[in-house]
Amino acid sequence: MTKHEALDLAKAKIVGGVATDQKHDSAHKHVTGEAIYIDDMPEPAGTLHACLGLSEVAHGKITGMDLSRVRAASGVVAVLTAEDVPGVNDISPTGLHDEPILASGKVQFFGQPVFAVIAETREAARRACRLARVTYAEEPAVIDIADAGPSGTLVTAPLTLSRGEAVKAIAAAPRRIKGQMRVGGQDHFYLEGQIAFALPGEDRDVTVYSSTQHPSEVQHMVAHALGVASHAVTVEVRRMGGGFGGKETQSNQFAAIAAIAAKRLNRPVKLRPDRDDDMTATGKRHDFLIDYEVGFDDDGAILGVDFTYAARCGFSADLSGPVTDRALFHCDNAYFYPHVRAVSAPLYTNTVSNTAFRGFGGPQGMVGAERIIDEVAFALGRDPLDIRKKNFYGTDTRNLTPYHQTVEDNVVERVVSELEASAAYAERRRAIDAFNANSPIVKRGLALTPVKFGISFTATHFNQAGALVHVYTDGSVHLNHGGTEMGQGLYVKVAQVVAEEFQIDIDQVKITATTTGKVPNTSATAASSGSDLNGMAAQNATRQIKARLVDFAAGHFEVPKDQILFLPGRVRAGNQEIPFAELIGKAYMARVQLSAAGFYKTPKIHWDRDKGRGRPFYYFAYGASCAEVSVDTLTGEYMVERVDILHETGRSLNRAIDIGQIEGGFVQGMGWLTTEELVWDGKGRLATHAPSTYKIPLASDRPKIFNVTLADWAENAEPTVNRSKAVGEPPLMLGMSVLHALSDAVASVAGHRVCPRLDAPATPERVLMAVERMRAGAGA
Ligand code: MTE
Ligand code: MOS
Repeated sequence: MTKHEALDLAKAKIVGGVATDQKHDSAHKHVTGEAIYIDDMPEPAGTLHACLGLSEVAHGKITGMDLSRVRAASGVVAVLTAEDVPGVNDISPTGLHDEPILASGKVQFFGQPVFAVIAETREAARRACRLARVTYAEEPAVIDIADAGPSGTLVTAPLTLSRGEAVKAIAAAPRRIKGQMRVGGQDHFYLEGQIAFALPGEDRDVTVYSSTQHPSEVQHMVAHALGVASHAVTVEVRRMGGGFGGKETQSNQFAAIAAIAAKRLNRPVKLRPDRDDDMTATGKRHDFLIDYEVGFDDDGAILGVDFTYAARCGFSADLSGPVTDRALFHCDNAYFYPHVRAVSAPLYTNTVSNTAFRGFGGPQGMVGAERIIDEVAFALGRDPLDIRKKNFYGTDTRNLTPYHQTVEDNVVERVVSELEASAAYAERRRAIDAFNANSPIVKRGLALTPVKFGISFTATHFNQAGALVHVYTDGSVHLNHGGTEMGQGLYVKVAQVVAEEFQIDIDQVKITATTTGKVPNTSATAASSGSDLNGMAAQNATRQIKARLVDFAAGHFEVPKDQILFLPGRVRAGNQEIPFAELIGKAYMARVQLSAAGFYKTPKIHWDRDKGRGRPFYYFAYGASCAEVSVDTLTGEYMVERVDILHETGRSLNRAIDIGQIEGGFVQGMGWLTTEELVWDGKGRLATHAPSTYKIPLASDRPKIFNVTLADWAENAEPTVNRSKAVGEPPLMLGMSVLHALSDAVASVAGHRVCPRLDAPATPERVLMAVERMRAGAGA
């Protein structure tokens, strides 16, 4: 044995197991530009480029399509329309057949893809696109939720949740308030836009590199579009430059068109829309109009609530059903409603079909709950935090949700009280009151808002995952699973799980691209459940191999199985130890299978949508945020002075990654509720289709003081991988604290006795108008 091996054998701990702060496996490549995104892949000879021709009216029949000048343009190889789809011209993820790949006969929103130009270069395809002459017989278009009206056409079946007698309880309550809130949508603004690159294979085969959160769905959609079996289509994605829900279904269209063109022309075809087309032609977060009525007592206890959540869904169902369902599932946020009714209205509109976006309707649901808290607090002249605390879910009683799931893991009071102390809420409240009393123009505001977010896909069958683990004869490991990497750190977390199981360093575990050819029938990487599902599936695969190794080693070393131990970098059999790689070599020679497919399905969950009852969520993730803002009441401009966050991710797999998710999620949520405003003009044209008009948060918008802490005591009550919790989406909703701090600053103008009813996004214009309303109404 060499000195090095001796050291290795004495090693006490592996590098990169679970619960260690590993950097993102691609962090250095992201920074240096070495990370390979689809547009960075070397293009095979003969690669063609596609550009989409988009509808120029919001609703109407296509009366003529003259594409002759397009076809004649230099560099153009083909122009495709709906007639050129060899299979089914549909990419609706719901099976409702309401979403054509290319518009056929009619168009339903401004920016809908009507034809595709395939040319030798991207530039040639884009120039040729402009030469089309498409004519339309325009029809009336429903653009806004308000235009659709409460009895508007629905794109999918609405949901009702109810418990108790909400209407009666509100009528009998000592106090009642009725109101309405508008909450805007949000563009995903992923850094890497949509892209698909299709390579034709022999026979009917095609391989598609797609920037997608859902390779299996892209595979199925491409197969339908081509009229071939799923086995002919392979979809691969190494990483996305951000997805945020915008690549859960929205990648289908680009992949289908690239694949159709590639098979037809028998040449590789790449389709990468520019930013304006991407923003115009792809779905976004749903904006909502929330009608609410609350009954409460003089002490601020909520007695009953009644909600209607109307959403602008766009022209097709897409994921609007589950998104509006999830809004209702979060109309309680962290609060117990003794009597509750909540109804969704997923409205058809002649706008792009809205889709998943971090939180998946949950954020819009919660915003309604927090508005009610503000209403009650300002009506009673109380600090909103008092009203929040008064109405939190209990532990043994007051723990039933509007969907009849019992909250079993409630830690909201602990999270909020610890944050209240660490952020010095009470002292700062007094200081802010004193500041405001002496500051007629600049007003400060403070708010502490909680988050309770349900984890699992509400469609029970999506809660399954697969993994594939190979151990090569040198002891190095190849890891593959159904989850996709979009920057959130899923790949490194799953690699940590495998390293931990085998007790090898993480650099021994090769992270590989997600592909439908290795792990089939996967769910979208979504609903924050990537590491819960794929981490467990990979653990399962690893444990199968370990069980075979234990059997083998017990026989080989002639010791009982319970004396085989996996120690860091080595395996102990009785009183002998050998390096892991050496055991693998011996196992191979003894013909032990060193590869396994793992599987996991989430236990306990079920959901009956018709009855509105069940346990849709395996568990809840909790957090809270305290924000302080300063507002210039002459202009409406504001700054975020300080934010303190306490969030819990169970026994974290990787605290460094989790803190990154919390910071990023918070900032994205803050952007949604403050500066990111989507504007459609009278013709249904998206006016804000570029960063020049659509304002995501800048580095200079970050809180001046930003303290993010993970609860060190947290542990998942359910046996998830390492008892960790999902972290992807919940922190987005911490951004609500900024909206409520702005509301608080505005309310200070009228002595905190009138609810400012700030709609979101609370842009400086809206803040200024709210201040003016306060001044006029309160006569101040
Ligand atoms: N973080 C980064 N950096 N980029 C992303 O696109 N997407 C979010 C979240 N965090 C996203 C992200 C969304 S919408 C979800 S559902 C989860 O990551 C998905 O990954 P997970 O299930 O592995 O957490
Ligand atoms: Mo996330 S919205 O579930 O992709």
